[in-house]
Amino acid sequence: MKVLVVGSGGREHALAWRLARSARVTTVLVAPGNGGTARGTTGPSARIRNVEITDVTGLAEFAAANEVGLTVVGPEAPLAAGIVDVFRSRGLRIFGPTQAAAQLESSKDFAKRFMKRHGIPTADYETFSDATAARDYVSRRGAPVVIKADGLAAGKGVVVAQTLAEAHDAIDAMLVDNRMGEAGARVVIEDFLDGEEASFIVMSDGQHVLALASSQDHKRLRDGDQGPNTGGMGAYSPAPIVTPTIHARVLREIILPTVQGMAADGIEYTGFLYAGLMIDSKGNPRTLEFNCRMGDPETQPIMLRLRSDLLDLLEHAIDGQLDRTEADWDRRTALGVVLAAAGYPEAPRKGDPLIALPADSEDCVVFHAGTQFVDGQLLTSGGRVLTVTALGDSVRAAQRRAYDAVAQVRFAGQQYRTDIGHRAISRRPPSAPPAPPSE
Ligand code: AMP
Ligand code: GLY
Repeated sequence: MKVLVVGSGGREHALAWRLARSARVTTVLVAPGNGGTARGTTGPSARIRNVEITDVTGLAEFAAANEVGLTVVGPEAPLAAGIVDVFRSRGLRIFGPTQAAAQLESSKDFAKRFMKRHGIPTADYETFSDATAARDYVSRRGAPVVIKADGLAAGKGVVVAQTLAEAHDAIDAMLVDNRMGEAGARVVIEDFLDGEEASFIVMSDGQHVLALASSQDHKRLRDGDQGPNTGGMGAYSPAPIVTPTIHARVLREIILPTVQGMAADGIEYTGFLYAGLMIDSKGNPRTLEFNCRMGDPETQPIMLRLRSDLLDLLEHAIDGQLDRTEADWDRRTALGVVLAAAGYPEAPRKGDPLIALPADSEDCVVFHAGTQFVDGQLLTSGGRVLTVTALGDSVRAAQRRAYDAVAQVRFAGQQYRTDIGHRAISRRPPSAPPAPPSE
């Protein structure tokens, strides 16, 4: 079967790489893809040029003309543009949420109203389009407080304000100066939640869910979780913070009520569903956000650990039979380190040649994101360039293996964190005896 992956990041390279290992997949097409998918590191693959990922009609025409048997969508933009609705209306098989269901990500106000209505744990909030009312509200609630643009803002729409002055500035930037455009015409203001974050991603067929392995992202640019927010500088799976007890609670208190609540509201949710969680010191999980897609870079370690046939899982999902399958995982930890271009995230430089790359092996794969071939030469073409992802028997072993490979990468201006996995490494197992007093 020919399969199509829509997108061009590390997430899509990892999905394509895993799909290329399915016995029944003959060709993986990636639209538009990147230098890694074009080079065929996904096995049989091809890059489709000149396609906008939000040109959902063009993509449907391409899928029909090329006899694509199944399409899987990486990023949120085509989902919010209704790619699933268009493909389905043409009888094309696709895995993802409809435009209406994708509002769980594309409108924070929709997601918050939904969670409140269905009793899903999340921070208290109010939504505003009037700046004066918004400022009065934060003055009453106090800082820290979190200001979120309602619409899609490519990861730039959230301000965690430590002071009232910062909160007022964020409100003014969005509601008065329109700096986020339409996405910031309404803002959600919510209480600050303390704890540790984790990514919990499931596949949903509308009725049943299949949980994927847990993971944790590192959103800040620099070591020690310092510096500006990014799309994610590294991730690993599993995330030890998600203990079996917390895992069961997330499914019972967040994931199942969400899928059932959407069905009850008449908006069946199919596709990957990503709950960004904040887990407090007592182990209570709360929802920070929903994404209607897999995470990037979380997908890279998750795909490296997935042992089941991904095509088989996707077909069960499209056929409403996720209750009849399960996913098998490599017991090892997978850890991915993102290498970003000079100037990322504010103004990433493009066009630097990739001078050296390590070869892929059984336990280490370089997933590409911002790379492209120009006249036969592999150049950087975006902010996040590569995710070097490795397996190891422990977080520390996976980390060592990944950084050994990172040391072999060379392109001008490369920046990466040296501490991916630090939370898991510094975490004492819950059953471990107290450390002996030091002499
Ligand atoms: P979001 O796009 O909603 O996940 O927000 C981006 C980041 O902002 C999250 O990964 C958190 O680090 C932080 N954040 C969002 N909401 C809250 C909150 N209510 N309390 C504390 N931090 C938050
Ligand atoms: N890594 C965070 C995200 O994909 O939203």
